[in-house]
Amino acid sequence: MKILVLNGPNLNMLGIREPDIYGSSTYDDLISLIKSHCKEKGIEVECLQSNHEGVLVDYIQQAFFDKVDGIVINPGAYTHTSVALLDALKAVQIPAVEVHISKVNEREAFRQISYVSYYCSKTITGKGFDGYIEAIDYLGTLA
Ligand code: DQA
Repeated sequence: MKILVLNGPNLNMLGIREPDIYGSSTYDDLISLIKSHCKEKGIEVECLQSNHEGVLVDYIQQAFFDKVDGIVINPGAYTHTSVALLDALKAVQIPAVEVHISKVNEREAFRQISYVSYYCSKTITGKGFDGYIEAIDYLGTLA
């Protein structure tokens, strides 16, 4: 099983950005956690991050050609604005889970819409880094 973990804008700033909301652990800590979990489970994983919407679209499209079995996506702020990310997910038809570190549903009104949720089979919010692990394990059950 091959999984792509995709993080959007500002998630490379974990540990620095708003630690009261996102915690004090870094992006590298997140990637280490994901990689060690996947190693334990025998899952092949690629972790990518970009601050650019079009690059994220390219990564989703590439997942199709790389025969990726599942996508875990935290689109950051593009969650609330990007039809392009939704369309990319619809184009590749790879099972996907949406993850948010924070409790987006308890935050500002503009965070209450998620375009990718129109495609993703599951949305996990407010569980910190554990949300990514839950998403990977969920995708594992589909294999
Ligand atoms: C986020 C929530 C988004 O609203 C925000 O723009 C982010 C991170 C989260 O992981 O909680 O960048 O996706």
